[in-house]
Amino acid sequence: MTGMADEDFAPILDGPGQSDYERYLRTDELLALQKSESEMAHRDELLFQTVHQSSELWLKHACAEIETAARLVDDVSLEAATRLVARGVLGIELITAQLSMLARLSPWEYQEIRKVLGHGSGFDSPGFVEIKRVTPLLGQAFSKAVRSVDASLEEVYRNAPEHPQLYDLAESMVDWDEALRVWRYRHLTVVERIIGNVVGTQGTPVDQLRKLIGNRYYPDLWQVRTRLTDLAGT
Ligand code: HEM
Repeated sequence: MTGMADEDFAPILDGPGQSDYERYLRTDELLALQKSESEMAHRDELLFQTVHQSSELWLKHACAEIETAARLVDDVSLEAATRLVARGVLGIELITAQLSMLARLSPWEYQEIRKVLGHGSGFDSPGFVEIKRVTPLLGQAFSKAVRSVDASLEEVYRNAPEHPQLYDLAESMVDWDEALRVWRYRHLTVVERIIGNVVGTQGTPVDQLRKLIGNRYYPDLWQVRTRLTDLAGT
């Protein structure tokens, strides 16, 4: 044994909680953010709140990475930006995986939860509102970076060895766009699985979700591939 006394490991951080782990992570507050058993309309509210709350956390993190990445691109630190975009992509993949947990909700029992959501709608998700704000910032910074090397996007793709950093950044942005699209598709299938095709008429929320899947944040980065295929004449 090293001869260390218990007091050597006594908490040294301020705040509520028995240990520095609890104090640093503020677990008291964090774990009080879900309804208690007596407040729940259905026990699966814990699952529902856990998935949504943790999704908001990962979205907050992913958007912070994308916003900083945009700033780094402005400063011509393209490799550092690409690393942050890759982290953001992983965050979206994590929240996509979590949707499988919601697919385990019983469609009939979910109706109990639906009744207590008020007018709550995913359109008001702070994380997704933030995605709509930061994703174009990265797109604008990237376009500026391409212009600054006097190349077109097509040239960056045709001469990737000459523009390796721009090429890698562009591909990481395609990963980001694709990850968001995959999330939307998975979300739609989970929604259909749990609440169905709500009335099914044009303009109902579920129809709207289906249309959103076609959205692309960086259309140029997708179109360039079509041009390359045309150019190759294959
Ligand atoms: C039981 C699971 C879920 C159901 C039944 C559900 C249902 C819906 C429905 C019906 C809409 C259309 C708008 C509305 O009427 O509210 C919607 C939109 C949305 N939901 Fe969900 N949702 C679920 C889980 C989630 C989760 C875990 C998130 C993650 C934060 C989320 C985020 C969103 C977002 C961002 C939208 C806006 C559409 C978009 O930007 O693609 N939802 N959801």
